[in-house]
Amino acid sequence: MTEALVNTYTNTNDIQLIRMEYVDKTAHLSTQPNSLNELIDLIYQAFATNDVDIDYVSTIMNNYKGNMKEWLPYMKFQPNKYTRNLVNGGNGKFNLMILCWAEGQGSSIHDHTNSHCFMKCLQGSLIETKYAWPNDENKEEQMRIISRTELKEGQVTYINDTIGLHRVENPSHTDTCATLHLYVPPYSQCNIFDERTGRTNEAHVTFYSKGGQLTKNE
Ligand SMILES: [Fe+2]
Repeated sequence: MTEALVNTYTNTNDIQLIRMEYVDKTAHLSTQPNSLNELIDLIYQAFATNDVDIDYVSTIMNNYKGNMKEWLPYMKFQPNKYTRNLVNGGNGKFNLMILCWAEGQGSSIHDHTNSHCFMKCLQGSLIETKYAWPNDENKEEQMRIISRTELKEGQVTYINDTIGLHRVENPSHTDTCATLHLYVPPYSQCNIFDERTGRTNEAHVTFYSKGGQLTKNE
């Protein structure tokens, strides 16, 4: 579904009909990428139009197995903060990246700037905590947790702003974790939230590396 459709169609039957329509549009594409490059090719083909077929993209992300050799150029860990490493910029339509979480590292609670966010755990495991949007921006209130889920190696999850906010963390103090993220469209700014008060701040998101090369941002 496109973001506009996510916001416009609230009736479940409407959403099902729209999904069927988009599934038909991607029916000619393979659902089995056998390498990172094949996955990237399929994502480009899937986004040949401006529609985003959430089910199809989740399927190919799920079916992609890959291996450490393919991820190694983007596996860059830092002791003080998780790193974002751009794999492919998708001609401005999407960003595919690998996030590297050292032991115990996690993100802030954040939104996704009206983008679709697909996330696959490549190595290790993660905890994803989903939160509801704060009810009243003028009132300080503890943020409400919707769910807390473990994302194990090979699993895929999806979020957008209509579903809520989330925080992602590597709960292990002995193992690192790596995740593959697909953002459609790409964004460079998001909102982060204070769990205790619901207060929000804008945050710039930057890349630690692009195409395997360190950037000067961090
Ligand atoms: Fe996120």
